[in-house]
Amino acid sequence: MIITIDGPAGVGKSTVAKLVAQKLNFSYFDTGAMYRAVTYALLKNNINPDDEKSVLDFLKNHFKYEIKKDQGQFLYFVNDEDVSGIIRSNHISNVVSQVSTKEYIRKTLLPFQRKYADDNDLVAEGRDMGTVIYPNAKVKIYLTARASVRAERRFQELTEKFPQDIATLDKQEILEEIKIRDERDSTRKISPLRKAKGAHAIDTSSLSIDQVVRKIIKKVKKANKTTLLYRFVRFLAKFIMSTFYNLKVYGKENITKKAAIITSNHTSFFDPPVLAAAMKEEIHFLAKEPLFKIIILKSIIKRLNAHPISFKESNVKTFRIVDSVLKEGKKIVIFPEGTRTDGSSIEELLPGVAFLVNLTKCDIMPVCIYGADKVWGRNKKFPKLFGKISCVFGKPIKFEEFEHLPKEEKIKTILDRITTSLENLKAYADAGFVGPIP
Ligand code: DC
Repeated sequence: MIITIDGPAGVGKSTVAKLVAQKLNFSYFDTGAMYRAVTYALLKNNINPDDEKSVLDFLKNHFKYEIKKDQGQFLYFVNDEDVSGIIRSNHISNVVSQVSTKEYIRKTLLPFQRKYADDNDLVAEGRDMGTVIYPNAKVKIYLTARASVRAERRFQELTEKFPQDIATLDKQEILEEIKIRDERDSTRKISPLRKAKGAHAIDTSSLSIDQVVRKIIKKVKKANKTTLLYRFVRFLAKFIMSTFYNLKVYGKENITKKAAIITSNHTSFFDPPVLAAAMKEEIHFLAKEPLFKIIILKSIIKRLNAHPISFKESNVKTFRIVDSVLKEGKKIVIFPEGTRTDGSSIEELLPGVAFLVNLTKCDIMPVCIYGADKVWGRNKKFPKLFGKISCVFGKPIKFEEFEHLPKEEKIKTILDRITTSLENLKAYADAGFVGPIP
């Protein structure tokens, strides 16, 4: 699960984000420290931040950035030098907001930042965490505070960390600098500081750190809460699937913590309850409208977060549903073959799934359900009472793989990747689920 905390300088992001991470036992990622480290390294090596070629050469070939944790403290290293203290100096603070406006620098750091969230429950703080880096984070927070309050906080911080500079520190100057940085951060062309769609704004001007942390944790708990009804139906699905159909789930380690589109083969009405039973977290479904006409099924799938799609309606509606589910950091299942198949092979996928992946820029979780066709095949009115169903989760497919491709090629490549993955998973299931999962 990803929590993003964005906001202007001096708003208390670091203190709050660290505490939230600590309380939830999540990893913590301070992207501001990364921009600061880059700034420090460029200055130290006499590289002009405007000199794109030299900057990129430096970042790609001579810049090693590491984050270490030592007795609860975060330490930042550039080329093995501990820069944790120096990057907080006033001088770096003033230059970093120029460095971070450079598009080529932001683009170079982006993959590293995204990668940090892989398999991590994460609290990420910065300026564009919710808007650009993790737009599908489950909880997004936007902290604000009056500039004068932030200047006062910065003054206190600098006084504590750099007592030798106390004579040269002037509150009014700090306030002016904060205003200049606010202006730069929020008016820059690339990734300007602004509240992300769906973010919760918290004004911290008159709140204690503890109060802010509590507010955020409350939002996290709320976002994680599955409805009682979902839990009950999932329990029922799990009970039926394991008691009558001996459900076996393979590849649970491939279930990502991030929002994702789950692409599954589809042979049976049992597929949605199988997936709901196989996954602990709440998932959503897109299901054809006619399924909502089968009374028993309708009441189950509605409670399993099924959203009806009609082939007659525009794709915009489908996109909106998928996008809003993903923006809440949740997962949604799509059966890209379009309709139930006879289960003998993976049939040609409808391109809609690739368009959705492209529009939402989310990762894909391929999964193959096996045996459901034998228990309740597409031509059967009722299911058999007993049988054997398994499902296997494949390695997640990252959107980054396709990001650089031109649109048409991108759609085709996404479809090919999902098809190949589903075919490999089916072959793995056919062979008896042995060896490493493809
Ligand atoms: O949060 P901070 O003061 O340590 O951030 C240092 C600078 O880096 C600040 O001027 C804004 C910039 N920054 C950014 O542009 N994008 C981020 N994700 C994080 C920080």
